[in-house]
Amino acid sequence: LWVVDKITNLSTTYPHITQAAHLLRENEVVAFPTETVYGLGANACSDEAVRKIYQAKGRPSDNPLIVHIASVNKLDEIVKDIPDYAYKLINEFWPGPLTLILPKKGDRLSTLVTAGLETVGVRMPSHPIALSLIREADVPIAAPSANQSGKPSPTHASHVYHDLNGKISGIIDGGATGVGVESTVLDCSSTVPTILRPGGVTKEQLESVIGEVQLDQALIEEGLAPKSPGMKYTHYAPNAPVVLVNGRLEFLQKIINKHQKEGKKVGVLTTEENINQLQANKVIACGRRANLQTVAAELYDVLRKFDDEEVDIIFSESFPQIGVGEAIMNRLLKAAGNQVIEEY
Ligand code: TXA
Ligand code: MG
Repeated sequence: LWVVDKITNLSTTYPHITQAAHLLRENEVVAFPTETVYGLGANACSDEAVRKIYQAKGRPSDNPLIVHIASVNKLDEIVKDIPDYAYKLINEFWPGPLTLILPKKGDRLSTLVTAGLETVGVRMPSHPIALSLIREADVPIAAPSANQSGKPSPTHASHVYHDLNGKISGIIDGGATGVGVESTVLDCSSTVPTILRPGGVTKEQLESVIGEVQLDQALIEEGLAPKSPGMKYTHYAPNAPVVLVNGRLEFLQKIINKHQKEGKKVGVLTTEENINQLQANKVIACGRRANLQTVAAELYDVLRKFDDEEVDIIFSESFPQIGVGEAIMNRLLKAAGNQVIEEY
């Protein structure tokens, strides 16, 4: 495995990108930064290449992958029946953290990418390294998040290295990713556009361009089968159990104290505003409440830090489900397996 030195000053003919693009064309798997999280890329047209993604991640084979393109022109080589509203969204949000689910066209893509579905998720990332790499590889690139299946997605190259060292051909280090949570997955194969996974582009932003957008019922009601296969698995989970706490800081502190008295090593996910008001074995600030984008940007790194601290249990503050808060709470609830303590 090679790890490319941090690329900070990108020129379009960066030699490491050429090397990575070459590996992709040889049907090898390479991790690269996107504006959301690091992706594990492979040639989406090759069964051999795509199989390597599932193997490296230990990903269940019924969970389809997102196909990444570097130009809107490539879109109608792989999907069909694109509704007008989808074009409006593309104009507004591509390149960027929005994945569109559309009916698959032809048989160019490996059937392993779509896990046998008739639809495919496509996105055009905005990270300059991702764009150069896809352009140079000159094939559509299937790329899930570059973490071991079930773990928090990687937002630093070191996270990828930790999870996948020895299992993949290379990592391009582009520093911290930025948005921090994955792309919004929007089903455009039905009449009403439906968010299957909240992410970097918010519901409010989508609605400002195309009017009403709905949330998949499974995101709202517990126990319903999600339309996005990936949403049914345990996810984003650090080693210790996570419990969300919804209440005042005094209430959170009481819960911490109770567990520490029982002899547990307690971790707390809080924010810069509150960090000085809480005492536990390990208290970590995850961004600022006043700017939820900073919380999203640090979320996965903070969840991974609790693994290093070997805490027994992690209590997390709750966040308002507005804007990117929807994605933050979706990931925290998954990490917590829906365990929430409400203040009584
Ligand atoms: O930000 C992102 O989207 C990152 C970066 C690397 O681009 N990628 C990512 O991929 O998060 P992954 O594989 O970790 O998540 C893809 C999600 C899964 O929940 C999957 O089930 C869903 O998209 N998905 C993919 N194709 C689908 C389809 N045809 N229908 C419904 N859901 C689909
Ligand atoms: Mg993932």
